[in-house]
Amino acid sequence: MIGRLNHVAIAVPDLEAASNQYRNALGAKVGEPQDEPDHGVTVVFIELPNTKIELLYPLGENSPITGFLEKNPSGGIHHVCYEVDDILAARDRLKETGARVLGDGTPKIGAHGKPVLFLHPKDFNGCLVELEQV
Ligand code: CO
Repeated sequence: MIGRLNHVAIAVPDLEAASNQYRNALGAKVGEPQDEPDHGVTVVFIELPNTKIELLYPLGENSPITGFLEKNPSGGIHHVCYEVDDILAARDRLKETGARVLGDGTPKIGAHGKPVLFLHPKDFNGCLVELEQV
């Protein structure tokens, strides 16, 4: 059912330092910071030949990244995103297997303007999983 790895999201304590590190030390193609108020994050996209990295930094008061950075002060992998062809079919299949879909199960529009859903990390070996319909 799942297809390509769309991105790996890394929460970072210093967005500028992390962007510079990927640009200068790792020689990656690093974009400009984008505020995503609906998701409580500022994101920097990094284009790799086979996938993307998203650097996440808290935006606003109820950012989901704030608590994560309190537990992981030096940052860490926040989620992985897999592509699916049909997000509603994927959601229904996952629910049948007992996996918990976060929120009310209605896809939101994600950082790339496409429908996304998140799956509970406790049901996926401690890893928050995002599904994106492409
Ligand atoms: Co993501």
